[in-house]
Formats: sequence, structure tokens, C-alpha cells
Amino acid sequence: FVSVQLVSRAVQQIWRTPQSICATRGYLHACRSFSSNEVKSAVTPAEITTTPIPEITDAFPHLQTHESIHKFSLEQPDEFWGRLARSRLEWQKEFQVVRDHDMEKSAFRWFPDGQLNVSVNCVDRHARQHPDRVALLWEKDEPGQEERVTYRELQELVCRMGNVLLECGVKRGDRVALYMPVMPLSVAAMLACARIGAIHSVVFAGFSAEALASRVQDAGAETVITADEAVRGGKVIKLKQVVDAAVAKCPTVRQVLVASRTGAQVNMGPKDISLEQVLSSASTECPPAVQNAEDLLFLLYTSGSTGSPKGVAHTTAGYLLYASVTHKHVFDYRDGDIFGCVADIGWITGHSYVVYGPLANGATTLLYESTPTYPDPGRYWETVSRLGLTHFYCAPTALRLLLRYGDDWVLRHDRSSLRVLGCVGEPLNQEAWHWFHGVVGDGRCDLTDTWWQTETGGIMISPRPSAPGAHINAGMPMRPMFGVLPVLCDPSGKVVEGKRVDGALCLGSIWPGISRTIYGDHKRFIDTYFAPFPGHYFSGDGAYRDEEGFYHITGRMDDVINVTGHRLGTAEVEDAMTEHPEVSETAVVGFPHPVKGEAVFAFIVLKEELESSQENIVADLKKLVRSQIAGYAVPDEIMVCPGLPKTRSGKILRRILRKVAAGQPDELGDISTLADPTIVQTIVNIYNTQH
Ligand code: WTA
Repeated sequence: FVSVQLVSRAVQQIWRTPQSICATRGYLHACRSFSSNEVKSAVTPAEITTTPIPEITDAFPHLQTHESIHKFSLEQPDEFWGRLARSRLEWQKEFQVVRDHDMEKSAFRWFPDGQLNVSVNCVDRHARQHPDRVALLWEKDEPGQEERVTYRELQELVCRMGNVLLECGVKRGDRVALYMPVMPLSVAAMLACARIGAIHSVVFAGFSAEALASRVQDAGAETVITADEAVRGGKVIKLKQVVDAAVAKCPTVRQVLVASRTGAQVNMGPKDISLEQVLSSASTECPPAVQNAEDLLFLLYTSGSTGSPKGVAHTTAGYLLYASVTHKHVFDYRDGDIFGCVADIGWITGHSYVVYGPLANGATTLLYESTPTYPDPGRYWETVSRLGLTHFYCAPTALRLLLRYGDDWVLRHDRSSLRVLGCVGEPLNQEAWHWFHGVVGDGRCDLTDTWWQTETGGIMISPRPSAPGAHINAGMPMRPMFGVLPVLCDPSGKVVEGKRVDGALCLGSIWPGISRTIYGDHKRFIDTYFAPFPGHYFSGDGAYRDEEGFYHITGRMDDVINVTGHRLGTAEVEDAMTEHPEVSETAVVGFPHPVKGEAVFAFIVLKEELESSQENIVADLKKLVRSQIAGYAVPDEIMVCPGLPKTRSGKILRRILRKVAAGQPDELGDISTLADPTIVQTIVNIYNTQH
């Protein structure tokens, strides 16, 4: 494992800058194009049996192992995805065409002539079959106050909400921004957008007013849905106030619907509408809009290595199918299970595995409003015990935090209902893996480390699907999911074949859940994901394929850092800090942090004439980042230095700053290309005096 990390570090050093990725473009025509149906699987790991997929195995009885089904899914995608789309989704109009991809334009369409409505698939058909089954199990911030919403009730709520939106003049194709707590009304609002054919854009309710405003503007949203306040970990967050500040900067916003979470008195201006009031008089019948398979379902903004956050766009049928299939097969979801994913709905994990995947499968899904440590570090496991959760899907950072409090917080709660554990967002290190598996899961539950991204829509690589009990290696996502062909590329763009190799993690297939575009900027979509390694989707991550052919993720290769499982572009933090009048230059890097995974380290250069003290400037900068982006983006360390290490052409050498931030000044490598090599020693000296 150590050698894997060393190899990966070496790769990261060479590759980290976007410039070096671009530099590879000249060599890339050698790459295989993924229009080919031929599957050259470089390695075939030991075969494992899989959870049954009747719609496939009934027609093709020889397909019983994960490997054989996986191969089939790549060789005959029309057959594979066509069958699943017919059996798993309810269509208003059946599709004739399964795939229609234009590789040149990076334009992908799944089931393009089909029509269906997502809210019908997630709610109505289950309300018809089992109206009294609990759809949403809302675990509120205070333990022991959970609320249940059945499928029948959810259908009513979605319809009321849909009618409210219609009455407010929201039309098909309009964007609606949501800035909400984790509560049933938020899920109903997402589904109500789908019901009337509007496009939701959920903004995590921890983002600042500035960040919310820029997302609302980019999406051109005219309607915002929010709540008076949110409560998390016993603390009140004044959502409406944030929305007021954001809306003041967004002239396009016509109306703000305000739900009541705490019942607090909030300022209600001329654009504001009390949601509960209008909901109570709205009709519980709202005929579903006819949605084309490729109509946009939602936008979700995420950080990239450069520029402002991108509105990753997902469409209706392909996304829903992929969320449903992965929820079913990665987690071995069975009827009657109580699925617990503790992600916030403001992230893609919340979209795919709190809302769309579980509800498409008619599951009971948890809405977790609290934190891992409120009111004590046993909260997760007390929740598992009280609600009888069968699945627990969370982030490694939470596990790393909890394991520090000791096993007793886990052992005092009954976890016998649990069957499958899962993790997402960042590498699940060995210690956390073994603690989660051994202590939380009593060594009895499957633990699935899932690798995927906002852009992929659903899980791409994970030890599942396989028969419960099949061997799982600790700390790696292992196996590609159906329809997913991982490809490793070297810096020259050549595909790396064989075992014990690493490279840029690309995907050589197009799966139904892939994002279709960046909202309003398809060129950026192509440039970010398809230009670096033509013929492949480039994930931005590096990976290692081991001696068994299984995949390990080695971390980001670009200037995105992963703080507590949240993506953050270093450029975003730099932009926020350079707004300070006394700052002349900044460079932000990530450095390893025992709980957060990575933390933010900012090197700043101040202007010559200062009016404030350095301490005050550092404090101001932290406030600035919090107000421009969010709390999690605030640097752990801000170091004032007289200059930054730059090449003669003026490019900042982040590789050096990364080493300094990681406390490895002995491993700086070649600094001879710097315009002024002495600045490095000065920076190291400052670092050493402060640590
Ligand atoms: C990282 C979250 C290692 C990775 C669903 C990816 C992971 C980014 C894993 C996407 C994992 C996600 N092991 N790293 N199992 N899962 N990542 O868009 O760097 O918020 O590119 O989607 O998280 O983050 P995003």
C-alpha cells in the first residue's frame, strides 16, 4: 500500500498542473475511441457471483457473475440498458432508440425518443402499490423526534408543491434554486420541479450569500425556495437572511418561497411568499408534465480547478436509471430495507442516494438533518438502532472524526439491523476502513467504498455488486460498475494496459448517468472532461490498478482539493482573498489533515504599505473566504511571505508550496527553474518558525 502511495505521489507531482495535462494534447490521437463496442479488458479479476438481475439473467442465463454481466453491459449497451430502462422505469412514451451519441461534440443522449416523468417514477407508482410505506424517514436535529412521510403523503405534498410552483408562474424548463435544510419539504420541492418540468438547482445551505447569488445568477433562476432557519448540531442557521442578502444581488429573482422549519419570525419582503400558507390551499392533484428523456432534471454546482463553480447538468431518464440501478446493485437494496445515507441534499450524494435512487426503487430513505457528533459522538449509531437502518452510507471524514472518540460510543448502541455499509467522497484510509468494518459493522456487514463524482451522476467503481460475503479488499473501490470502463492514461495520453500500473483515471465508455453539459457553457464541458484525453472522459483523479486488476484511487491530479469530502477549487479561495485591499498575491494549496482529509493552506503576499496589522489581515481573510464561499473553505493556515516561488515566466510553482504546506521541505525537488530560488528558503524558514 505504501508503494501505491509513493507511485501515486510521483504521478501527482508530474501531472498536477492543468498546463501539463494540456501539454499532453499533441500526443492524443493514439487514444482508443469509445465509439467502438469492442471491449479490451486489460485484466480479468477473479469472477464473483452477483445479486440477481432477473431482467438480464432471464434472457441471458449464462450471465451469472458480475464480470460476465459487466462485459455484456459494455459490449451490448443497447440490450443491457434498454432492458433495464424498460423494467425499472415507467414510461409515458416508450423509447425506440437506446443511445444516440455524438462523440465529436461530446453530446450524449440516452433513450432520446422516450418520455417519462421523474416524480411519477419516484412517487406515484409506489403510492399506487404501497401507499402506506414510509418514503421519507426524517431524522431531525434533535434525537428522538423523527417524522415519517408515507408514499401517499409524499405524493400529496409533491402535487401541492407542484401546483404552488405553477401558480407562481414557474414554467417547464425554468430553473428553481433551493437553499433548504434537510427536510421532507425540500425533497418534495425537488420532485415538484420534476413534476412540472422545471429544473432544480439545490445549493448546499452552508454556502454564503455570495456563493448562493452567483449560482442563482448563473442558472438564471427566477424562483428561490428556502426556509426561515435551519438547525444543525443544535445551532441555528438563519437561511432566510442569507437568501435576502443573495437576492439583493440577483435582479432576475421574482419570488422567494419561505418554508417554516423553526417557526422563527423572519423578515418578509414584497417578493417573499409563506410556503405553508400557499401549500395548505393548493390542490393535491397535479398532472405530471410530459418530460422528454433528455430534458434537464437538475443543475448542481461543483468546483473545478479553474474559474467559478460549474453548473453540472443532469437529464431525466439516463440519470434516474443510473441512480436506481446503482442504488439497487451497489448496495444490494432489498424490498423492506431502511436505507440510511447521511449526506446533505445539497450534494450529489444526497441527490442520487437520499432522493432519486432510493425513491425510484420504492425504498424508505433517511433524511438526516444533524451532524455526526450531536448531541454526542454516538449519534449515528443511536440513530441506526432507533430507526433500524439496514444501510449506512457516509463520508470518511466523519469516520475519522468518530473513531477518535473510541469504540464505546458505537458499542453501546444496537447495530444488528445493519447489513451494508458504504463510504464516499474521498479515499477511505485503512484505519477508518477497519474501524467502520470491524467496530461499527462487527465484521459482519459488507463495506463498500464507492468512487464517483457529481459529473458521473452515480457510483462508478465499488466492490459491489457481488454476492453478499464475496471478498472485499480494504480501502479501495475495486470494481467498475455495469457500463463503466475505467481506463488509465499516461501523461502522453497513451492508454496504460496491464496490472500494477497507474495513470489518469479516465472512462472509456458512456454510461446513462453521465452529466450532459455544464449549464450555459458546453465548451467548458468539452475542455474540462474530453479535451485532456480525447476519446475519454477525464475524471481529474489518478488511479492505480493493482495485481488483481482492482482499482485504487490515488487522489486529484488538478487544483481541486477535497476538504471534509467537499470539492474546493484553489482558485476560488485565491479569488476571494485577493479581494482584500492589502493583499497583493495569494497561492492556495491543500495539505494532509488527519480528520478533514485535506485542509487549505494559503500563502499570501501583502502590499508594501500596510494600514492594518498582519493578525488583523489574516482574520479579515478568513472572514472574507467564509463570506464569499463557505465555512469549510476557510484556510487552516494563512502564512504571510515576502514573495512566491515563480518560474521566469511568472508561473507560481505550487508543487513547491504543496511540499512546504505538508511539512516536507526536504523534498522540494528541482528549484533551479525559479526566477528567484532564494525565496524558497525564506518561505521554509517562516514555516519552520511557525511550526
Ligand atoms: C473524490 C462525490 C477516493 C474524488 C460523490 C472525486 C473519492 C471527487 C471517492 C468527487 C472514493 C469520491 N475514493 N476519492 N471512494 N469518492 N472521491 O463531485 O477526488 O463531490 O473526483 O462527488 O471526490 O467529488 P463530488
